[in-house]
Amino acid sequence: MKHDFSLILEKASRAPKSLDEEELAALLACGDGSEEEKALFEAAYKIKVFQVERNISVRGLIEAGNICQKDCYYCGIRKSNSSVERYSLSKEKIVALAKQAKDIGFASIVIQSGEIESGKHTDFIEEVLREIAPLELGVTLSLGEQSCETLRRWREAGAARYLLRIETSNKKLYSKLHPSDHSWERRVEVLKDLGDLGYQVGTGVMIGLPGQTLNDLARDILFFGSCDADMIGMGPWIPHKDAPLKGEFDKFHALKLGLKMIAATRLYLHDINIAASTALEALAANGRALGILAGANVIMPNITDEQYKKAYNLYDGKPGVCESALAARNLLDKKLGEIGEKILYAQRGDSLHYAKKSCCNK
Ligand code: 5AD
Repeated sequence: MKHDFSLILEKASRAPKSLDEEELAALLACGDGSEEEKALFEAAYKIKVFQVERNISVRGLIEAGNICQKDCYYCGIRKSNSSVERYSLSKEKIVALAKQAKDIGFASIVIQSGEIESGKHTDFIEEVLREIAPLELGVTLSLGEQSCETLRRWREAGAARYLLRIETSNKKLYSKLHPSDHSWERRVEVLKDLGDLGYQVGTGVMIGLPGQTLNDLARDILFFGSCDADMIGMGPWIPHKDAPLKGEFDKFHALKLGLKMIAATRLYLHDINIAASTALEALAANGRALGILAGANVIMPNITDEQYKKAYNLYDGKPGVCESALAARNLLDKKLGEIGEKILYAQRGDSLHYAKKSCCNK
């Protein structure tokens, strides 16, 4: 192993935020299957274990609807994909899924859907939140860009966390991946609003996008730090047959780069929550377990009914489309048990980073 590589790992392990762009890019540049890569994953996993021991936080993911006003060039549920059967779950259904999550020991849920900005949608989500409030779940929303007022109402109605991926911190690359009326600046503004409103803020990127460099990815990690993210959800870009974005794609390399990004992010930001994304599982049967061993500490099993899961197809080869919530849970226990990790049932698993911030601000 190169001397420099070990030194970077040592420096990163001693203190958070100690690496610069070039050092982060050097970590990401290690060869697939190399000694350096092994050392990178081990160093990141060591920090994960130091922070949260061999425990995994879990959130039941509810895909509440696939109607979307956005037209992102990479996404399978983009507005102009007419081959998608569109659905939106009723309030009763979402509430029932939330109860089910609680019953099987998940103390947190994520409500995700395509992006809709309308008064009716704001009211709908607010009602859902008020109805599930007595369950005392940790609720994350992942509903795209919204006005500050809408986000304030949802926060008051019980949402504690919000996920909004920046997709890429490179503005120029962003503009190639989206139509011209999709604004990178607005996304950054919404992330700022979320922090100001007291949400635990989650962001993230797609990894391995056509035209994206390792330095772009290194700057993505610096971006996570500069927006003081509490949680990161990121995963490899996977082409979708109906989406216009095409480019080179190698499953093995995409998986490896996704894992290296998790590891480098853990080495840069020690105490945040990092999800092992479902996209990893689309690339390898044990993709999420590999994500944990590279430093992730959160898993979000999908608890939406089978019929809807199939319609929520962001990328090709989405896994687990026939699991029931309980089957998903049992499979997870087994897969995590095999790597000596266990799910923290009945615990919300809030971001340690957020807890420290809140404590310091008192
Ligand atoms: N490959 C990987 N991730 C994708 N997403 C959308 N389309 C794809 C794709 N083709 C991700 C985006 C979005 C999240 C909900 O799904 O990052 O923010």
